[in-house]
Amino acid sequence: MNILVTGGTGYVGSHTTIELLNKNYNVIIVDNLSNSNEKVIERIKEITNRHVKFYAIDLLNEEDLNQVFINHKIDAVMHFAGYKAVGESVKLPLKYYTNNLVSTLNLCKVMERFNVYKLIFSSSATVYGKPASFPIKEDFPTNATNPYGRSKLMIEGILSDLSNSNKNWKIVSLRYFNPVGAHESGKIGEDPNGIPNNLMPFLTQVAIGKLPELKVFGNDYPTKDGTGVRDYIHVVDLAKGHIKALEKIDALDNYEVFNLGTGRGYSVLEVIEAFQKATGMQVKYKFVDRRPGDIPVSYADATKALKILNWKANKDIFDMCIDSWNWQQNNPNGYN
Ligand code: UD1
Repeated sequence: MNILVTGGTGYVGSHTTIELLNKNYNVIIVDNLSNSNEKVIERIKEITNRHVKFYAIDLLNEEDLNQVFINHKIDAVMHFAGYKAVGESVKLPLKYYTNNLVSTLNLCKVMERFNVYKLIFSSSATVYGKPASFPIKEDFPTNATNPYGRSKLMIEGILSDLSNSNKNWKIVSLRYFNPVGAHESGKIGEDPNGIPNNLMPFLTQVAIGKLPELKVFGNDYPTKDGTGVRDYIHVVDLAKGHIKALEKIDALDNYEVFNLGTGRGYSVLEVIEAFQKATGMQVKYKFVDRRPGDIPVSYADATKALKILNWKANKDIFDMCIDSWNWQQNNPNGYN
């Protein structure tokens, strides 16, 4: 089977490509490299000993995408391409809406033109906004709190409408909790531009001495130690969730949504502690004010994915820390 992976040189896309190749799928990657590095393609080949076809194209250009579907008989699509920085999306909403929505619309149009109807979409737990209770189930109300989140929610709505319009469609939205970690080879991982926004890359950059100290955003949340609680999930577990969804897609309804998380929440202080224990490194940190827009707690009820996809996360917080650290040590400057 030929799987088109959009955003395949990005963090989650590259790890999912490896799992696809390991399962003998052929992978065709399209990526405009706006937030990733072409070296990822070489690394993927090193890890898997498999060939990957790569097109450096932008999904905003429908013609270019059309040509990919002419060149390859695509069986299914995994759609990761999109902007994802919350803060930037607040400053540049038009950039976010244009890129995330138009690229998805172009993709779906071209898929329909070529009678390709299987689509797995990279969504986010951010679509739950500030949930009223925990763990978060798929049928909880959705509510975006920033343009990035709203773009994910809008796309989910578009995909749901599409699935109603033509019963050939088989679409799955996977709502990720907090992906961290890296491939165990240490050859691919998360490579944020500039100063990281997210906890784990920030933490590993402090540990390696690139940043002076970690700022813990708030210690007065109504949680066990006052710091924010999240459901961190190893990116390789997350990648495997996509394979399960693909394997089961024919048996699913036309449109399905699944949480991908571990079902367990860790506070920021617990993550720091786990990291120190797992790596033997000391991490300097201080408490600062809450980050605007952060919610106190978020963790998944992941039982739907277990029941229907037969998927669950296997790696624990120590694996996540060890693999993040291994990637950071082997690639102190990311892919550069
Ligand atoms: C963030 C995004 C979310 C996105 C996800 C992608 C926000 C508000 N949310 O989630 O929409 O889908 O990334 O991975 O940006 N923390 C610190 N110090 C830091 C960084 C983070 O204390 O330097 C804390 C945060 O307050 C939070 C936890 O660590 O409690 C996790 O933060 P982060 O990794 O940024 O993820 P989210 O905010 O959950």
